[in-house]
Amino acid sequence: MSQVEIIPQPSVRKTSLAPGFEKKLESRELELGDGASLTIDADAEGHAALVRKLDKVRKKRASLERRPLKKRLTAKLADKHELYQLSVQSPEEDIAFLRKVYKGYRKKKAKHFREDFCGTALLASTWVDTKSGCTAEGYDIDPDPVAWGLHQNVRLLGEDASKVHLVLGDVRERSRKAPDVRCAQNFSYWCFTERADMVAYFRSVYEDLADDGVFVCDLHGGSETQEEMEEERDIHAGFTYVWDQYRYWPIQSAVQNHIHFRFGDGTELFRAFTYDWRLWSLTEIRDCLHDAGFKQVDAYWEGTASDGESGNGKFTLAKRGEADLSWIAYLAGVK
Ligand SMILES: C[S@@+](CC[C@H](N)C(=O)[O-])C[C@H]1O[C@@H](n2cnc3c(N)ncnc32)[C@H](O)[C@@H]1O
Repeated sequence: MSQVEIIPQPSVRKTSLAPGFEKKLESRELELGDGASLTIDADAEGHAALVRKLDKVRKKRASLERRPLKKRLTAKLADKHELYQLSVQSPEEDIAFLRKVYKGYRKKKAKHFREDFCGTALLASTWVDTKSGCTAEGYDIDPDPVAWGLHQNVRLLGEDASKVHLVLGDVRERSRKAPDVRCAQNFSYWCFTERADMVAYFRSVYEDLADDGVFVCDLHGGSETQEEMEEERDIHAGFTYVWDQYRYWPIQSAVQNHIHFRFGDGTELFRAFTYDWRLWSLTEIRDCLHDAGFKQVDAYWEGTASDGESGNGKFTLAKRGEADLSWIAYLAGVK
């Protein structure tokens, strides 16, 4: 007689956490100045690092801001987080897109948002608004961008800063409140290079979302993503952003990418950021989302600008996409 294995089903709010990253985190209130304060969860070491780094950021920014941005665009004076935000982030457009995706499925407004791999918490800061009751959580393991974001993004919210809750911890930590929308942007989740780890991350997302929550992640692809090449883009503020696909190892589908910033005076902020990722395909990510429990996974493909070549920043539901050399898309996992 064959044996039937009975697999216990996890309860909805229980998160399957991979061992080894759960830390004991403690909540503390942090005053940022200018009437802004918020709750941060971190371990004792993390809180101490944040306070130390925040102080450094304050001093550095006070000294930098004596000159206008244009005069600081040189390797010696440039602030890499500022240049990163100017080069690769469009918070208003991203938040509008995330709200639209949620509303499209649920026919109501999303209130509580979680930004995974939040770095400087720019999206979480853009989401919140006391008037409409919108609140946000942000998760990142590195106190460096988080401290910068506290001073440069969260502090600027004034009273609304208290609507942001930051966690200096792993993205597989459970949310403080179940999110309506949770996102992982700028391909950050590609730090999970094994399928089992990716599925475990997505499963923790699935179990953690509100009952009618939606998870959105971006991804990029196209034949050019497998080439070792550099792409330069002039940024309006007056510097050049360089995306350096430095190495591609086909057997592991592993990549090492760097971001450099080049300036008009001939200097360069070389390897300001480095990423060691697996180059995942859209179908692999879609399948991982299904395996993690998402019943419906939809792709959103970017439209084409009037030059007939570049993307227009508008993403719509799509079934097949196109064979572009390089493309960016979103996947939405619907609970
Ligand atoms: C590419 S940056 C993304 C910053 C920002 N979210 C954006 O959209 O541009 C990746 C971030 O992920 C963070 N990170 C990497 N692994 C993580 C993990 N397991 N848990 C939390 N944060 C992580 C890094 O510290 C870094 O700030």
